[in-house]
Amino acid sequence: MHYNILTLFPEMVENGLNTSIIGRAVAKGILSVDAINIRDYTKEKHGHVDDAPYGGGAGMVMQAAPVCDAYEELCRRLGRRPRVLYMTPQGMVFSQSIARELAKEEDLVFLCGHYEGIDERALELIVTDSLSIGDYVLTGGELPAMVMIDCISRLIPGVLGSDLSAEIESFHDNLLEYPQYTRPEVYEGMRVPEVLLSGHHKRIEEWRRRESIRRTLERRPDLLAQANLSRKEQEYLKELLDAIPDSRQPEQGEIPE
Ligand code: ADE
Repeated sequence: MHYNILTLFPEMVENGLNTSIIGRAVAKGILSVDAINIRDYTKEKHGHVDDAPYGGGAGMVMQAAPVCDAYEELCRRLGRRPRVLYMTPQGMVFSQSIARELAKEEDLVFLCGHYEGIDERALELIVTDSLSIGDYVLTGGELPAMVMIDCISRLIPGVLGSDLSAEIESFHDNLLEYPQYTRPEVYEGMRVPEVLLSGHHKRIEEWRRRESIRRTLERRPDLLAQANLSRKEQEYLKELLDAIPDSRQPEQGEIPE
């Protein structure tokens, strides 16, 4: 996967992505990260990339030309026109399933805005997808781009130590992950659940699935509608629901107290 990030702060993205698991995958050549400075494409004497908004109002707007020129030069270099993901709180909220879809691409372009946004004409010309990381407003698109790159990268074969761990994760199967324990067996008087010490793989698997279901019901009941449960697991879920007093049955999307 080749990530290309159009930004006014290339060092922010480079520094953020050159460590840990992503940095190692870049060093191994599984991923590449190319941070392209939009400022390098300005034709203005003083290197300006922004100007006051037509119609008035606070702040500055990033001009269309440097953004489009940076993208067009990248396309000429690559010999194709990759998807352009615009980082904006107005976009569709990023999710594990969007990450799975994007992980299939060969190249991705992340367009990071700053100030009061980017001239709408540049967005109309080059953006294929508008994506948000949640309903809050950040100062720029660099952190959202890094969040998405991290999430997409761990789905690419060879990036994680074991490809299995990308699958056994929160949101796999729309269930939250079961609780994990490591040594010592007793900490502050709290014991590791007996079943995990049993060496009985089938029982451990069953316990973990049940814990995932219980946790999802308690913390993210909205996810359960999409979960793929066996008949036995559906019965377990019903038992859990029956144990909740009637008036306290969680609504779809409600976070129980
Ligand atoms: N830019 C500013 N806020 C953002 C958000 N929540 N998601 C994506 N891009 C953004």
